[in-house]
Amino acid sequence: MAKPRILVVDDDEPIRTQMKWALSRDYEVTLASNAEEAMKAMRAESPELVTLDLGLPPHPEDSSEGLRLLELILQANPLAKVLVVSGNSDKSSALNAISRGASDFFSKPIEIEELKAILKRSHYVYTLESEYRELQNRLGSSSFGEIIGTSPCMQEVFSIARKVSTTDVPVLITGESGTGKELVARGIHNNGLRKGGPFIAINCGAIPENLMESELFGHEKGAFTGAHAQRAGRIELARGGTLFLDEIGELPLALQVKLLRFLQDHKIERVGGRGVIDVDIRVMAATNKDLEKLVKEGLFREDLFFRIAVVSVRMPPLRDRGEDIELLARAFLKRFAAPGPGPKYLSDEAVSAISNYDWPGNVRELENRIRRAVTLADGQTVNAGDLGLEARSPEGELLDLKTARRNMEIKVINSAIARHKGNVSKMAEDLGLTRPTLHHLIKKYNIKVKND
Ligand SMILES: Nc1ncnc2c1ncn2[C@@H]1O[C@H](COP(=O)(O)OP(=O)(O)OP(=O)(O)O)[C@@H](O)[C@H]1O
Ligand SMILES: [Mg+2]
Repeated sequence: MAKPRILVVDDDEPIRTQMKWALSRDYEVTLASNAEEAMKAMRAESPELVTLDLGLPPHPEDSSEGLRLLELILQANPLAKVLVVSGNSDKSSALNAISRGASDFFSKPIEIEELKAILKRSHYVYTLESEYRELQNRLGSSSFGEIIGTSPCMQEVFSIARKVSTTDVPVLITGESGTGKELVARGIHNNGLRKGGPFIAINCGAIPENLMESELFGHEKGAFTGAHAQRAGRIELARGGTLFLDEIGELPLALQVKLLRFLQDHKIERVGGRGVIDVDIRVMAATNKDLEKLVKEGLFREDLFFRIAVVSVRMPPLRDRGEDIELLARAFLKRFAAPGPGPKYLSDEAVSAISNYDWPGNVRELENRIRRAVTLADGQTVNAGDLGLEARSPEGELLDLKTARRNMEIKVINSAIARHKGNVSKMAEDLGLTRPTLHHLIKKYNIKVKND
């Protein structure tokens, strides 16, 4: 078997030589003395293991360059196991590095046997993780974190979410109420470098304007009437982790300015406080409003919009997710009914009612309807009535022919939209229609092709 590859990053020549000498028997060793050489080696060799001295030039006296390089290494290969090396007196930087994704640390002077043991364990973890990734890839991804979905539009959501989870960029998640915006934010957090840190959510629409500043930034004792004790705000509570600003469109303009300032320099000042505090967090935000429209109307600051929407993820409404609707319904049924004596199956009539319904409350509504149906259903099967939905005969015998045809045409066009992401040429080809005919039907039934 090929030897595992290790990259040793240290600005101290004797240490590099000593490491090479000690590790060459078991590893393919590459050496680097600064960030540039290290990244070159990452690209050329893609080593599984890295030992990283935190004190690197041009700032050998502190850990700033080492931490910066750590981030670049993990961006280049999120699975790489990075072991940081720190001076004995500098345990806090080593711990800081761990919270940013390093897998272990050891202190100088280097104890070779100890180092070898740590490397062996880290390589084992690397092997397990990459085997797991490969298996996941082969199985295809019908989920991301707790989010279920096989439709093309959800696959696109998962693909962006996976990419951004290994970075720290701000993400804006948009979509109708109940589409899973918060779930995606949690998924990104749990798959990312900050998963060991907290995930703190704040609903910008639910807190009265006069309390919002102290809720976000915290306050000192006596800062205002009722401030009996010093209190940390949500930003501080999210330190090392993620702050999720829900319904960011509701944030009052005065606070938008303060939030923007924080996003620029990552420093806060508590209400009534006299000094600034550094806070290292990742920020994600969500909204069911059209933020660009709010910007045009002067209700949302454009500069803040650009800061928080570096990457945006649009959650499709449930009605556009095709077969995911049934998949989700069955998953919820399993969750709520099992392991008790509750109903286990959806009747055909229930499946057809679910696929025909509009789902204005999206996944949350589906979840609630299934939860209620589980307690209402008599036997082993959930019927449309238990879901509070109208039973529709699949043959359409209760409908006149015209209505049945209309319903069927709408349904077929909607599922073609989901399949082809609204590409009219592809849809027409798939449906065996000319483009003008398809355009005519879309117009006639007032169907939305793109959801923006
Ligand atoms: N794809 C999914 N798979 C499984 N569960 C989901 C999915 N999407 C949403 N849910 C569930 O639906 C509910 C609503 O999701 P969430 O709270 O994330 O939506 P939201 O977009 O933040 O809603 P709102 O705009 O109302 O705040 C949650 O209970 C969540 O667990
Ligand atoms: Mg939400």
